[in-house]
Amino acid sequence: NKDIYILAIESSCDDTGAAVLKDNNVISNVVARQDIHEQYGGVIPELASRAHQQNIVPTIDVALKKANITKEQLSAIAFTQGPGLMGSLLVGGSFAKSLSMALDIPLIAVNHMHAHILAHFINEEGFDKPSFPFLALTISGGHTQIVKVNSFFDLEILGETTDDAVGEAFDKTAKILGFPYPGGPLIDKFAKEGNPKAYAFTKPKVPGLNFSFSGLKTQIMYFIQKNMAENPNFIEENKADICASVQFTIINILMDKLKMAVNETGIKQIAIGGGVSANSGIRQTLKEAESKYGWKTYIPKFEYTTDNAAMIGIVGYHKFLENHFSDSSTVSKARIEF
Ligand code: KG4
Ligand code: ZN
Repeated sequence: NKDIYILAIESSCDDTGAAVLKDNNVISNVVARQDIHEQYGGVIPELASRAHQQNIVPTIDVALKKANITKEQLSAIAFTQGPGLMGSLLVGGSFAKSLSMALDIPLIAVNHMHAHILAHFINEEGFDKPSFPFLALTISGGHTQIVKVNSFFDLEILGETTDDAVGEAFDKTAKILGFPYPGGPLIDKFAKEGNPKAYAFTKPKVPGLNFSFSGLKTQIMYFIQKNMAENPNFIEENKADICASVQFTIINILMDKLKMAVNETGIKQIAIGGGVSANSGIRQTLKEAESKYGWKTYIPKFEYTTDNAAMIGIVGYHKFLENHFSDSSTVSKARIEF
């Protein structure tokens, strides 16, 4: 059997990613981050697509060089079809199409959320792969979903957010606190020094396995406004406690729904994915859930949590094995189903 080399391209939001996989092994994984958005407190779509256009060729070049692979050795090109920002998706999608045409190799369209889940099937020493069926909690800047994963290509959404994603809850809280974008990692950092029970926030009441985070954001905003009116140094003096309390509330919201999903499905294997799964509090809580609830939890390697092309590549590899190719008229999609 011949080795399969997949070049994967990720350009759904503000990071340009390129990776090379040899079968299910990642041999290079490069991400060009866009610092430009920090000063605006959020991703500016127009600037993101321009930066992708600027970065895509050099990023792919570096990924190929690091992998020590020539373009001629590639078996297929995988790219993120959606969901994401249209202008960003178009850059990666158009580039992938052109390259597959030039090299005369298959093109593989990949769903970004599917990739956050299948990232667990990348071969990595010290990381177990989940067996089917399992539950996936995908938490990112754009999505919050609980998915029942029956096989590589049979996925059912059991619940999702009805408004903001959990990453937005982190980032918007961070913005209220005056942190630069994306503020999720900073909340995580300050939370480590704080008391998670210093301040109590109420959890939203949402039926079933769905989520809502916009009310929490408003609650935090009023809480900060009220306290800042009384003490202008409130944030500065209580940063760690505020971050720890907000993070604790968010983790509780996620855990409540996960417990409910386990009860409803009887499935005790839980895999997390998406940028927010980099959060150390969430990682620790899920690890503890193994002994506490008898769950088996899967936490991805750090570099496969936030947006990256390796995860696009692993979906590409599994689609390649099934001859699941896209034709050259495939279009990018801002919204997309499994
Ligand atoms: O998956 P991702 O890189 O991009 C999307 O597809 O959205 O997720 C980005 C999100 C941002 O909201 C960022 O603040 C959040 O992941 N994030 C974190 C942490 N690291 C990244 N949130 C909380 N704690 C972290 N350590
Ligand atoms: Zn993502």
